[in-house]
Amino acid sequence: MTPSIDRNQELFDRARELIPGGVNSPVRAFRAVGGTPRFVQRAQGAYFWDANGQRYIDYIGSWGPMILGHGHPAVVEAVQQAVQDGFSFGAPTEREVQLAEAIVHLMPSLEMVRLVSSGTEAAMSAIRLARGATGRSRIVKFEGCYHGHADSLLVKAGSGLATFGHPTSAGVPAEVAQHTTVLPYNDIDQLEQAFGLYGSEIACLVIEPIAGNMNFVRASVPFMRRCRELCDQHGALLVFDEVMTGFRVALGGAQSIYGRQIPGFRPDLTVLGKVIGGGMPLAAFGGPRALMEQLAPLGPVYQAGTLSGNPIATACGLATLEQIAQPGFFDALAARTRSLVDGLSIVARSEGVEFSVDCEGGMFGFFLLSSLPQDYQTVMTSDSSRFNRLFHGLLERGVYIAPALYEAGFVSAAHTEDDIATTVEAAREVFATLRTG
Ligand SMILES: Cc1ncc(COP(=O)(O)O)c(C=O)c1O
Repeated sequence: MTPSIDRNQELFDRARELIPGGVNSPVRAFRAVGGTPRFVQRAQGAYFWDANGQRYIDYIGSWGPMILGHGHPAVVEAVQQAVQDGFSFGAPTEREVQLAEAIVHLMPSLEMVRLVSSGTEAAMSAIRLARGATGRSRIVKFEGCYHGHADSLLVKAGSGLATFGHPTSAGVPAEVAQHTTVLPYNDIDQLEQAFGLYGSEIACLVIEPIAGNMNFVRASVPFMRRCRELCDQHGALLVFDEVMTGFRVALGGAQSIYGRQIPGFRPDLTVLGKVIGGGMPLAAFGGPRALMEQLAPLGPVYQAGTLSGNPIATACGLATLEQIAQPGFFDALAARTRSLVDGLSIVARSEGVEFSVDCEGGMFGFFLLSSLPQDYQTVMTSDSSRFNRLFHGLLERGVYIAPALYEAGFVSAAHTEDDIATTVEAAREVFATLRTG
């Protein structure tokens, strides 16, 4: 229930006077679904409380990082201890070494890793490294995948394969966009045609292996195998953007899942973020030694950062990785996520609502469609007004999912069976209102 004074609205009005759109990252503004964004006052475990003191079961978890839930005691303690020793030095620390060791241990395709402060920075730097290492300019990306907001990545497909990509944001020069080829996800024919046309110019192919920025769409195994083969044939690098999936869908990331299905499979470079910082600004990219040693100060590819490897962020990330590496952690998380998606499927079916759902580890996505989409075009056939009714219906019932139909959802280790049951019951009530319309 909204109290007589709506503090969320008050704060949003103040924010809009000072911050463009009232937010520091666009999706937070609720533009897709309408209504007033919830201003978070505090969070604990699977919940957060908004400025009105209303509690929500949180299925966003800061868009992925909060895999342990909010305020996990071991993480809080590690951060508190780190704070005592200083906030930032601009000089190396032992924890950076420890975090690098933890990452390369959990993801064997990485022999070396560089820490940065955001996923955008990590993806941008990995692409610069790929270009520097291959001496080529063109990159290939896929429609519906997001890799942060570097200029060369804010690009949509041209009208045909032989035409240039177009910027999706003002301020991105056409001269930059023309080096990016954008292809439909999971489309082997177009992939082969693109390599046929441009193979010798392609520095890298960058992909979200399980795309979480068009809700939740997996790259098929044959598609991923073909990506790997074509990169190998043409001397291009395969860059896995695991900012979202890394340490989230499995301990070894999405690459460990494809590695089980495609013998010998591994990406050349991997981009990480979110969970490795446990909620602090920390991201990374890494790969084989021979490639990573092309970075400054050893090699010719420049990359740097005042706050890179920040001591508080590395403490938070290390404590988080330590928890998720405990035996059984991912089995329990995956089972909890599975019980949520199964519960949602059952109530959608019983209420006669078209629904499809998928999940892996602690990440899930659902569509008000009869079957799971394989690409962005199909995701966008979803009826956004029905999604918006579902979103607001859940929000009124204290369940917070992403305020846009093209975003994935996240379950944390702090979500209990009771939280799942409450969520499923709330969904049943809302689905009942969607049936007829
Ligand atoms: C797959 C992927 N790559 C890159 C990014 C960019 O990360 P950041 O928002 O930390 O810049 C995101 C952000 O959501 C992402 O989901």
